[in-house]
Amino acid sequence: MTKKVKTAVVGCGMISNIYIKNLKNLFSVIDLAAVADINRSVAEEKAAAYGVDRVMTVDEVAASPDIELAVNLTPAFAHYGVIKKMLEAGKHVWTEKVMAADLEEARELCALADRKGLYLGVAPDTVLGAGIQTARRALDTGMIGDVTSGLAVINRDQSLNAEVFTFLRGRGGSLPYDVGVYYIGALLCLLGPVRSVKAFGTPAPVHEPRFLFRNAGEKPWQIPGSSVLSASLRFECGALVSVLFDGSTVNASRHALTLFGTRGVLEVGDPDTFGGQNTLIYADQKECVLPFTHGYDGKNTLDPTPFDYYGHRGVGAAEMAYAIRRGRPNRCGKEYGLHCLEVLEGMERSASTGETAELDTRFVMKPLAPGYYSGFMGGSARADAEFSLME
Ligand SMILES: NC(=O)c1ccc[n+]([C@@H]2O[C@H](COP(=O)([O-])OP(=O)(O)OC[C@H]3O[C@@H](n4cnc5c(N)ncnc54)[C@H](O)[C@@H]3O)[C@@H](O)[C@H]2O)c1
Repeated sequence: MTKKVKTAVVGCGMISNIYIKNLKNLFSVIDLAAVADINRSVAEEKAAAYGVDRVMTVDEVAASPDIELAVNLTPAFAHYGVIKKMLEAGKHVWTEKVMAADLEEARELCALADRKGLYLGVAPDTVLGAGIQTARRALDTGMIGDVTSGLAVINRDQSLNAEVFTFLRGRGGSLPYDVGVYYIGALLCLLGPVRSVKAFGTPAPVHEPRFLFRNAGEKPWQIPGSSVLSASLRFECGALVSVLFDGSTVNASRHALTLFGTRGVLEVGDPDTFGGQNTLIYADQKECVLPFTHGYDGKNTLDPTPFDYYGHRGVGAAEMAYAIRRGRPNRCGKEYGLHCLEVLEGMERSASTGETAELDTRFVMKPLAPGYYSGFMGGSARADAEFSLME
């Protein structure tokens, strides 16, 4: 039996609903002992809703001798401060994306984790879901040969979305950082590190609030950074991938994640979910959907709630908990999180300078072991997907 890792969630907003539920019920390696928020009343609400014993302040989490792991679910602009405080207090940290709103801050956090000998894990952990792990297995077993190129596209009206999700108005809230990071994370999991980036970008529009009944009297805002980024990524494996993130259009998402190889084409499912279906295409053959080779397909069958759409979030923290106990690297580690951020920052840098951005960070991500699934008997019972997180 692996000793459970005593864990506290810091930040009890929207995404904490699925995290708290999953961390409490799904992973036997996690002991979710406490929740905390800058606003104590929301932490109290979540503790009551999901049956968590303790509500703490952020400082109490840091000072607690028994909490080993802090799961940081605050908005991106608050990540640096929370992660730094927890690392300095000797806690391992799992953080929602992006690691920090700024690459230099993220480098500093990685150096701090190294100095302290602590784990720092970073979302997106959708890359550990059934969809992306199955795509990874298809590539690793040579189903489309060598990947020569690819295409990644996502669009939204990010300024409009920032009317509801107000944290999107700040640093780290632009579409490339908030949503594009799922596409970058998936590409990194599938193809490995990026060597260089060339990009063009346009800034977000100044947004006049439209939901007047919600936001009477609010001033216009402009999300920092590029809202549209069009880029070409050269991966170390040789593949060239075209990326288009457009946050200045409408909320009718037309996403694509397609990899072209020497023997076939793989249409990868939505990387913003855990259970995207992958389609394999060969010349002169009927295309086919690949069955999943892995668990964590995003289908949450225990006590359904309105937040189950968010799938198996928390799997990265659980995989890290096993890594902590076994003294091995975690898959969604700080090097992966830092490289995600360097790719995004490289796109921004290239767009503003007109130069090719050469990237200097690197990472390694092992695939999960195949053949373990999340449920059986029609989803009515929990099966053994957790075994795939152990080694
Ligand atoms: N909402 C989504 O659909 C979604 C999906 C996936 C990932 N995420 C990521 O999860 C994180 C949180 O998103 P959310 O939608 O839950 O945001 P949210 O605004 O709903 O909740 C954030 C919570 O953090 C608290 N907080 C802010 N600063 C804090 C601090 N310094 N210390 C302690 N608590 C603090 C706030 O009071 C709030 O309760 C972000 O990094 C976001 O990118 C969100």
